[in-house]
Amino acid sequence: MKDNRTLGLRLSFLLLLLVLPAARMTIKNNNSNTLKHLQPFPPLKNDNLLRAARGEVVDRVPVWVMRQAGRYLPEFQELRKQHDFFTVCRTPELACEVTMQPLRRFDLDASIIFSDILVIPQALGMTVEMHAGVGPVLPQPICTPEDLKRLTPDGALSRLTYVGDAITMMRHKLEGRVPLIGFTGAPWTLMGYMIEGGGSKTMSKTKAWLTNYPEDTKLFLNLLTDVIVDYLEMQVTAGAQMLQIFESSAEHLSKQEFLVWSAPYLRRIRDNLVDRLTKKVIPAVPLTIFAKGAGHSLKEQSELGYDVIGLDWTVDPVEARAVVGPNITLQGNLDPQSMYCEPSELRTLTTEMVHKFGKSRYIANLGHGITPQTPIASMEVLVEAVHNAL
Ligand code: CP3
Repeated sequence: MKDNRTLGLRLSFLLLLLVLPAARMTIKNNNSNTLKHLQPFPPLKNDNLLRAARGEVVDRVPVWVMRQAGRYLPEFQELRKQHDFFTVCRTPELACEVTMQPLRRFDLDASIIFSDILVIPQALGMTVEMHAGVGPVLPQPICTPEDLKRLTPDGALSRLTYVGDAITMMRHKLEGRVPLIGFTGAPWTLMGYMIEGGGSKTMSKTKAWLTNYPEDTKLFLNLLTDVIVDYLEMQVTAGAQMLQIFESSAEHLSKQEFLVWSAPYLRRIRDNLVDRLTKKVIPAVPLTIFAKGAGHSLKEQSELGYDVIGLDWTVDPVEARAVVGPNITLQGNLDPQSMYCEPSELRTLTTEMVHKFGKSRYIANLGHGITPQTPIASMEVLVEAVHNAL
């Protein structure tokens, strides 16, 4: 009897071994993202980031840094000598390696998948090159509304699956150590790069569109919004546990312009994404909006339905809290230039910042991306000072 049971157990185990790879193949080969989500990921050990985003009690103030995987790390520069920027983005093993680099050095509370906001213009058929010392260059920009016909929104998502693959791989490699953040550029910021052909100090060509072609601008922003919603849904189904929307070029808009050319699209991204996930019974993930230079519209941002508002360093934490109220998490906002201070000064600035924000509904970060010459020791000081401040 006992032997029979043992035999039965052994047989079931064997059967499971046979069936499991087949099931995984089905998951891999099936285009349904819902199935892909069923892959068991290692359980999360440090969920302070997600708890802070949801307004729950945290063990310690979570901290991560925008561009935490980047040129201030010698191991990143070493890898970049061997591989072109977008090759790193497109090769899940390389993207994961770079994503992991800052986590090996610092006691961070989050990882952010290595990619770039400009993978969307690429998926829409545009060429994007990364020029050393210059930044991104789009050699054939969108100059007139006629040029919008060159964009290929059909199938754009299928040209971004490598980001989903990197996210899924990263969730396994993280072994549940910290949550994985996915991200995208927001419509206004992406449209700017696509019209200017790269970064711009004034965004004058893009701003000319607002007055010369207002209707085509709306079409353009709506086209980007649709792709972004698809893209974010794909990231969540691939395993992203939180999402950040970078509206880095909001600084070029007046408050009035921000409310017309940015905020409505940010709202639609959030609403459409939540609808999609709800319909597919996929658990929602916290959403962060980082609209750099839009400190003038914190109240309006707090009404867009996001869980977290990222602040740049020009905003005072106490004033921001007073404006947005108690039900939104704030993220930020140390001046990236403070990372060049002496360690003791940096420690003081960081501690003061954390005291101003408080332990509840707060995620520590810089007020923009870390810069390439930042001393590595500053990251250690920052992370430690955040964790020890309260
Ligand atoms: O935070 C992370 O660690 C994830 C990686 C990440 C990168 N780009 C890698 C990157 C993220 C979140 C981005 C987003 C991004 N990309 C934004 C929004 C955030 C922001 O900074 O406002 C923007 C505007 C871009 C477009 C972009 N990509 C620019 C303007 C540049 C040049 C920046 C510079 O300082 O030269 C890039 C290149 C880029 N993206 C680098 C990295 C690590 C450096 C390029 C290199 O390795 O050669």
